[in-house]
Amino acid sequence: MPSFLETLIDPLEAGEFANLFWDKTPFSCHSASRNIETVYSQINAISIESLFQHHDGKIRLHKINSLGQYLSVECKTLAEAQTSFANGTSVAFLNVESWLGLAQTIRDNLANILQISPTCFECVAFATPVGSGVPFHFDGTEVLILQLYGKKTWKIAPNAVEFPTVPFAPSCVTPIIPELELYATPESLMVPLDKITTIELKTGSLLFLPRGYWHETKSLELSISLSFVSQIPSLLDLLMNAIRKHFVKIPNWRCPIRPNGICYVDIEKDLKDFAADALVSVVNSELSRLGFENKKNSTHGWLNEIRSSDESRSENIKLYFNTDRKSVMKVKLCG
Ligand SMILES: [Fe+2]
Repeated sequence: MPSFLETLIDPLEAGEFANLFWDKTPFSCHSASRNIETVYSQINAISIESLFQHHDGKIRLHKINSLGQYLSVECKTLAEAQTSFANGTSVAFLNVESWLGLAQTIRDNLANILQISPTCFECVAFATPVGSGVPFHFDGTEVLILQLYGKKTWKIAPNAVEFPTVPFAPSCVTPIIPELELYATPESLMVPLDKITTIELKTGSLLFLPRGYWHETKSLELSISLSFVSQIPSLLDLLMNAIRKHFVKIPNWRCPIRPNGICYVDIEKDLKDFAADALVSVVNSELSRLGFENKKNSTHGWLNEIRSSDESRSENIKLYFNTDRKSVMKVKLCG
């Protein structure tokens, strides 16, 4: 018996789906499965009213202000969200997998197909009034969208910036996050108008957007959709966490830096002590916690592509990978 998600992706096989996901290839599909009627019956159990009635987590409003600028703001109460929705504003219900059975099921199916932990995904339910949507932007995560109700148009385009670490919307009132400016030029942050593809989603349609893919949406009808947003960390995320976890245990590394520059830490010695084994074990244990361990016969494109050779230089840290490139073997600080 195919899982709920396998019915939705039919005629794609689970393995083909996983390959598209890890190969960072966008795709959309509308299931031709004979089991789709069963799926529809579960989708039909969800309504705008049930979202407003049962949701007790965070809510965000996605709106356009009088200057035509895009803004995403936290909403304090369900009553405010309901009023905003009635006035044409899109409402995002965060972490609905905590109470919505269908979202839990699909998240678990997704994690099972990709062979990673379910904690790598959270689900956001979007309720969008007719004619509403969000302008062109990109997110620093992978997103799998399931359209539950109504028709919604998506315009998507590839991003010249590979694997952005933060979201960005040209028309957003919020300025560019400084980290993005470290690796993206102003030209690379423009929507590639000649590469836009338009996709229309209806009940049961799926759309997968790789990390950083540009997208713009508009609801042709009152719409409800589920977005499964990846929380898969980058190697950079793991390294930064590992460094903090190690040095936060040493009091003098937690001490505020003094104006006279006197430091009670032997920086060179501490870094050398930390360098190899500690970092390797923390990174590998974090990979293990997320379900990436012991996949000797599988290919994790995201890790392999980080390294095209057996060593990596990042600032003053060098990583040595095992020959299977599935785990970090040694970390060395370089002068
Ligand atoms: Fe988005």
